[in-house]
Amino acid sequence: MIILVILSAAFGFLLLHMYDETKRIEINTHTVLLKKPLQQSLRILHLSDMHFAGPSQTLERFFDRLSGQEFDFIFLTGDIMDCVSGIPACVANLKKLKSKTGIHAVLGNHDYFDYTFLDAIIHNFPGQKQPRTLQKTDLLVDALLRNGIHLMRNENKRIHYGPDELWLYGLDDATTGHANIRKTLDPFNPRHTNFLLTHTIDVFLDLGNDEIDLSFSGHSHGGQICLPFLGPILTHTILGRKYAEGIKRMKGAVCCVSRGIGAGRWIPFRLLCRPEAIILTVEGKKH
Ligand SMILES: [Fe+2]
Repeated sequence: MIILVILSAAFGFLLLHMYDETKRIEINTHTVLLKKPLQQSLRILHLSDMHFAGPSQTLERFFDRLSGQEFDFIFLTGDIMDCVSGIPACVANLKKLKSKTGIHAVLGNHDYFDYTFLDAIIHNFPGQKQPRTLQKTDLLVDALLRNGIHLMRNENKRIHYGPDELWLYGLDDATTGHANIRKTLDPFNPRHTNFLLTHTIDVFLDLGNDEIDLSFSGHSHGGQICLPFLGPILTHTILGRKYAEGIKRMKGAVCCVSRGIGAGRWIPFRLLCRPEAIILTVEGKKH
Protein backbone atom coordinates (compact mmCIF):
# COMPACT_ATOMS: atom_id res chain seq x y z
CA MET A 1 0.00 0.00 0.00
CA ILE A 2 2.78 2.42 0.96
CA ILE A 3 4.60 1.60 -2.26
CA LEU A 4 1.45 2.42 -4.22
CA VAL A 5 1.15 5.78 -2.47
CA ILE A 6 4.81 6.58 -3.12
CA LEU A 7 4.52 5.60 -6.80
CA SER A 8 1.34 7.67 -7.22
CA ALA A 9 3.00 10.68 -5.59
CA ALA A 10 6.09 10.26 -7.79
CA PHE A 11 3.95 10.04 -10.93
CA GLY A 12 1.96 13.11 -9.89
CA PHE A 13 5.18 15.02 -9.26
CA LEU A 14 6.53 13.94 -12.66
CA LEU A 15 3.36 15.12 -14.45
CA LEU A 16 3.55 18.48 -12.66
CA HIS A 17 7.18 18.83 -13.66
CA MET A 18 6.36 17.93 -17.28
CA TYR A 19 3.52 20.46 -17.34
CA ASP A 20 5.79 23.14 -15.88
CA GLU A 21 8.45 22.41 -18.51
CA THR A 22 6.03 23.53 -21.27
CA LYS A 23 6.10 27.02 -19.72
CA ARG A 24 9.88 27.38 -19.59
CA ILE A 25 10.61 28.60 -23.10
CA GLU A 26 14.29 28.94 -23.96
CA ILE A 27 15.72 31.41 -26.43
CA ASN A 28 18.62 29.60 -28.07
CA THR A 29 21.20 31.31 -30.25
CA HIS A 30 23.28 29.68 -32.96
CA THR A 31 25.63 30.91 -35.67
CA VAL A 32 25.85 29.10 -38.99
CA LEU A 33 28.09 29.53 -42.01
CA LEU A 34 26.69 29.17 -45.51
CA LYS A 35 28.65 27.84 -48.47
CA LYS A 36 27.67 30.92 -50.45
CA PRO A 37 28.80 34.49 -49.82
CA LEU A 38 26.73 37.10 -48.01
CA GLN A 39 27.79 40.73 -47.77
CA GLN A 40 26.34 41.03 -44.30
CA SER A 41 25.42 38.66 -41.51
CA LEU A 42 21.70 38.07 -40.95
CA ARG A 43 19.96 37.77 -37.62
CA ILE A 44 16.89 35.59 -37.93
CA LEU A 45 14.21 34.74 -35.39
CA HIS A 46 12.74 31.29 -35.98
CA LEU A 47 9.49 30.39 -34.20
CA SER A 48 7.71 27.12 -34.78
CA ASP A 49 4.76 25.14 -33.44
CA MET A 50 3.29 27.93 -31.34
CA HIS A 51 -0.02 26.01 -31.05
CA PHE A 52 -2.03 29.03 -29.97
CA ALA A 53 -5.28 27.79 -28.38
CA GLY A 54 -6.37 30.94 -26.54
CA PRO A 55 -4.93 33.60 -24.29
CA SER A 56 -1.74 32.37 -22.65
CA GLN A 57 0.28 34.19 -20.01
CA THR A 58 3.28 32.02 -20.85
CA LEU A 59 3.23 33.05 -24.49
CA GLU A 60 2.44 36.68 -23.64
CA ARG A 61 5.49 36.90 -21.39
CA PHE A 62 7.60 35.11 -23.97
CA PHE A 63 6.65 37.55 -26.75
CA ASP A 64 7.26 40.46 -24.38
CA ARG A 65 10.81 39.15 -23.92
CA LEU A 66 11.37 39.31 -27.68
CA SER A 67 9.63 42.61 -28.27
CA GLY A 68 12.68 44.77 -27.53
CA GLN A 69 14.72 43.29 -30.35
CA GLU A 70 14.66 43.88 -34.09
CA PHE A 71 15.53 41.04 -36.45
CA ASP A 72 16.46 40.97 -40.12
CA PHE A 73 13.94 38.19 -40.74
CA ILE A 74 11.30 36.39 -38.71
CA PHE A 75 10.17 32.96 -39.86
CA LEU A 76 7.21 30.90 -38.57
CA THR A 77 7.21 27.25 -39.59
CA GLY A 78 3.70 25.99 -38.98
CA ASP A 79 1.32 24.80 -36.28
CA ILE A 80 0.64 28.47 -35.68
CA MET A 81 -2.64 27.62 -33.98
CA ASP A 82 -4.02 24.61 -32.16
CA CYS A 83 -7.61 25.76 -32.67
CA VAL A 84 -9.33 28.88 -34.01
CA SER A 85 -9.88 30.30 -30.54
CA GLY A 86 -6.13 30.89 -30.48
CA ILE A 87 -6.15 33.27 -33.45
CA PRO A 88 -6.73 36.58 -31.57
CA ALA A 89 -3.91 35.88 -29.08
CA CYS A 90 -1.68 34.73 -31.91
CA VAL A 91 -2.13 37.94 -33.88
CA ALA A 92 -1.83 40.16 -30.80
CA ASN A 93 1.47 38.56 -29.82
CA LEU A 94 2.96 38.53 -33.31
CA LYS A 95 2.31 42.28 -33.47
CA LYS A 96 4.89 42.72 -30.70
CA LEU A 97 7.72 41.47 -32.93
CA LYS A 98 9.94 43.67 -35.09
CA SER A 99 11.54 42.55 -38.32
CA LYS A 100 13.11 44.62 -41.09
CA THR A 101 11.57 42.32 -43.71
CA GLY A 102 8.34 41.45 -41.95
CA ILE A 103 7.22 38.03 -40.79
CA HIS A 104 7.16 35.13 -43.25
CA ALA A 105 5.18 32.01 -42.39
CA VAL A 106 4.14 28.59 -43.61
CA LEU A 107 1.35 26.39 -42.25
CA GLY A 108 1.51 23.06 -40.42
CA ASN A 109 -0.79 20.10 -39.87
CA HIS A 110 -2.56 21.68 -36.87
CA ASP A 111 -3.41 24.70 -39.03
CA TYR A 112 -5.34 22.32 -41.29
CA PHE A 113 -6.86 19.83 -38.84
CA ASP A 114 -8.50 20.25 -35.45
CA TYR A 115 -7.22 17.36 -33.36
CA THR A 116 -9.39 15.71 -30.72
CA PHE A 117 -7.69 14.16 -27.69
CA LEU A 118 -7.85 10.77 -29.41
CA ASP A 119 -6.43 12.20 -32.63
CA ALA A 120 -3.56 13.74 -30.69
CA ILE A 121 -2.69 10.35 -29.18
CA ILE A 122 -3.18 8.28 -32.33
CA HIS A 123 -1.34 10.76 -34.54
CA ASN A 124 1.82 10.09 -32.55
CA PHE A 125 2.11 6.72 -34.21
CA PRO A 126 3.32 6.39 -37.80
CA GLY A 127 0.95 5.59 -40.66
CA GLN A 128 -2.20 6.99 -39.05
CA LYS A 129 -4.90 8.78 -41.03
CA GLN A 130 -5.52 12.49 -40.61
CA PRO A 131 -8.16 13.62 -38.08
CA ARG A 132 -11.77 13.89 -39.23
CA THR A 133 -12.31 17.54 -38.31
CA LEU A 134 -10.96 20.16 -40.62
CA GLN A 135 -9.61 23.31 -39.05
CA LYS A 136 -11.08 26.63 -40.17
CA THR A 137 -7.79 27.44 -41.86
CA ASP A 138 -9.30 30.37 -43.78
CA LEU A 139 -9.88 32.26 -40.52
CA LEU A 140 -6.20 31.96 -39.64
CA VAL A 141 -5.09 32.83 -43.16
CA ASP A 142 -7.32 35.95 -43.20
CA ALA A 143 -6.08 37.06 -39.78
CA LEU A 144 -2.43 36.62 -40.75
CA LEU A 145 -2.81 38.42 -44.08
CA ARG A 146 -4.85 41.27 -42.53
CA ASN A 147 -2.04 41.81 -40.06
CA GLY A 148 0.67 41.99 -42.70
CA ILE A 149 2.18 38.54 -42.24
CA HIS A 150 3.60 37.09 -45.45
CA LEU A 151 2.00 33.68 -45.57
CA MET A 152 3.69 31.50 -48.18
CA ARG A 153 1.68 28.61 -49.57
CA ASN A 154 3.83 26.89 -52.18
CA GLU A 155 5.31 30.14 -53.36
CA ASN A 156 8.61 31.92 -53.52
CA LYS A 157 9.94 35.44 -53.54
CA ARG A 158 13.16 37.18 -54.31
CA ILE A 159 14.26 39.49 -51.53
CA HIS A 160 16.79 42.22 -52.06
CA TYR A 161 18.19 42.82 -48.62
CA GLY A 162 20.95 45.40 -48.48
CA PRO A 163 23.62 44.27 -50.94
CA ASP A 164 22.40 40.66 -50.91
CA GLU A 165 19.81 38.86 -52.99
CA LEU A 166 18.03 35.97 -51.31
CA TRP A 167 15.35 33.61 -52.54
CA LEU A 168 12.79 32.50 -50.00
CA TYR A 169 10.74 29.37 -50.67
CA GLY A 170 7.65 28.78 -48.55
CA LEU A 171 6.37 25.21 -48.81
CA ASP A 172 2.86 24.44 -47.66
CA ASP A 173 2.40 21.59 -45.18
CA ALA A 174 3.70 18.27 -46.51
CA THR A 175 2.34 16.18 -43.62
CA THR A 176 -1.26 16.87 -44.72
CA GLY A 177 -0.62 16.68 -48.46
CA HIS A 178 -0.63 20.42 -49.14
CA ALA A 179 2.98 20.72 -50.30
CA ASN A 180 3.78 21.25 -53.95
CA ILE A 181 7.54 21.28 -54.25
CA ARG A 182 7.60 21.73 -58.02
CA LYS A 183 5.38 24.82 -57.84
CA THR A 184 7.29 26.21 -54.86
CA LEU A 185 10.66 25.85 -56.58
CA ASP A 186 9.58 27.51 -59.82
CA PRO A 187 11.66 29.45 -60.73
CA PHE A 188 14.69 27.91 -59.10
CA ASN A 189 18.40 28.39 -59.55
CA PRO A 190 20.82 26.42 -57.36
CA ARG A 191 23.39 29.18 -57.74
CA HIS A 192 21.16 31.61 -55.86
CA THR A 193 21.14 31.82 -52.07
CA ASN A 194 18.04 29.75 -51.31
CA PHE A 195 16.18 29.63 -48.01
CA LEU A 196 13.35 27.15 -47.40
CA LEU A 197 10.50 27.35 -44.89
CA THR A 198 8.77 24.01 -44.32
CA HIS A 199 6.82 22.53 -41.44
CA THR A 200 8.66 19.20 -41.67
CA ILE A 201 12.28 18.54 -42.55
CA ASP A 202 11.16 15.28 -44.21
CA VAL A 203 10.64 17.16 -47.49
CA PHE A 204 14.39 16.95 -48.01
CA LEU A 205 13.75 13.40 -49.22
CA ASP A 206 12.22 15.01 -52.31
CA LEU A 207 14.93 17.63 -52.80
CA GLY A 208 18.22 17.31 -54.63
CA ASN A 209 21.72 17.94 -53.32
CA ASP A 210 22.90 21.53 -52.96
CA GLU A 211 19.52 23.04 -53.91
CA ILE A 212 18.75 24.68 -50.58
CA ASP A 213 21.32 26.60 -48.53
CA LEU A 214 19.36 27.10 -45.34
CA SER A 215 16.08 25.59 -44.17
CA PHE A 216 13.79 26.21 -41.22
CA SER A 217 11.37 23.63 -39.87
CA GLY A 218 9.63 22.30 -36.76
CA HIS A 219 6.85 19.70 -36.41
CA SER A 220 8.92 17.23 -34.35
CA HIS A 221 8.71 19.26 -31.10
CA GLY A 222 12.16 17.73 -30.50
CA GLY A 223 10.27 14.59 -29.55
CA GLN A 224 8.50 16.56 -26.78
CA ILE A 225 8.98 13.74 -24.26
CA CYS A 226 12.54 12.51 -24.00
CA LEU A 227 14.02 9.86 -21.74
CA PRO A 228 17.34 10.23 -19.97
CA PHE A 229 20.17 8.74 -22.07
CA LEU A 230 17.70 7.52 -24.71
CA GLY A 231 16.34 10.79 -26.07
CA PRO A 232 12.95 11.20 -27.76
CA ILE A 233 10.47 8.33 -27.78
CA LEU A 234 8.71 9.57 -30.93
CA THR A 235 10.04 12.17 -33.33
CA HIS A 236 7.49 12.80 -36.13
CA THR A 237 10.27 12.58 -38.69
CA ILE A 238 11.07 9.61 -40.88
CA LEU A 239 14.64 10.86 -41.12
CA GLY A 240 15.31 9.61 -37.61
CA ARG A 241 15.78 11.05 -34.15
CA LYS A 242 18.97 12.86 -35.18
CA TYR A 243 16.78 15.27 -37.15
CA ALA A 244 14.22 15.91 -34.41
CA GLU A 245 15.88 19.15 -33.32
CA GLY A 246 18.93 21.35 -33.63
CA ILE A 247 21.18 22.63 -36.39
CA LYS A 248 21.71 19.82 -38.86
CA ARG A 249 23.18 19.29 -42.32
CA MET A 250 21.17 17.63 -45.04
CA LYS A 251 21.92 17.43 -48.78
CA GLY A 252 24.27 20.41 -48.60
CA ALA A 253 21.83 22.57 -46.61
CA VAL A 254 22.08 23.89 -43.09
CA CYS A 255 18.80 22.85 -41.44
CA CYS A 256 17.44 24.69 -38.43
CA VAL A 257 14.98 22.32 -36.73
CA SER A 258 13.12 23.87 -33.82
CA ARG A 259 11.76 22.03 -30.79
CA GLY A 260 8.87 24.48 -31.08
CA ILE A 261 7.26 26.75 -28.57
CA GLY A 262 3.99 24.99 -27.79
CA ALA A 263 3.03 21.44 -27.00
CA GLY A 264 -0.57 21.12 -28.20
CA ARG A 265 -3.57 21.55 -25.92
CA TRP A 266 -4.24 17.84 -25.41
CA ILE A 267 -0.74 16.78 -24.37
CA PRO A 268 0.53 19.78 -22.38
CA PHE A 269 3.67 18.00 -21.25
CA ARG A 270 7.34 18.07 -22.10
CA LEU A 271 10.21 16.14 -20.57
CA LEU A 272 13.89 16.94 -21.05
CA CYS A 273 12.82 18.90 -24.12
CA ARG A 274 12.15 22.51 -23.24
CA PRO A 275 10.25 24.65 -25.73
CA GLU A 276 12.47 26.99 -27.68
CA ALA A 277 12.76 29.94 -29.98
CA ILE A 278 15.89 30.11 -32.11
CA ILE A 279 17.84 33.22 -32.95
CA LEU A 280 20.10 32.30 -35.83
CA THR A 281 23.01 34.42 -37.00
CA VAL A 282 23.81 33.55 -40.59
CA GLU A 283 27.23 34.30 -42.03
CA GLY A 284 28.20 33.93 -45.66
CA LYS A 285 31.35 32.35 -47.00
CA LYS A 286 34.20 34.83 -46.97
CA HIS A 287 35.74 35.66 -50.33
FE1 LIG B 1 3.34 21.03 -33.69
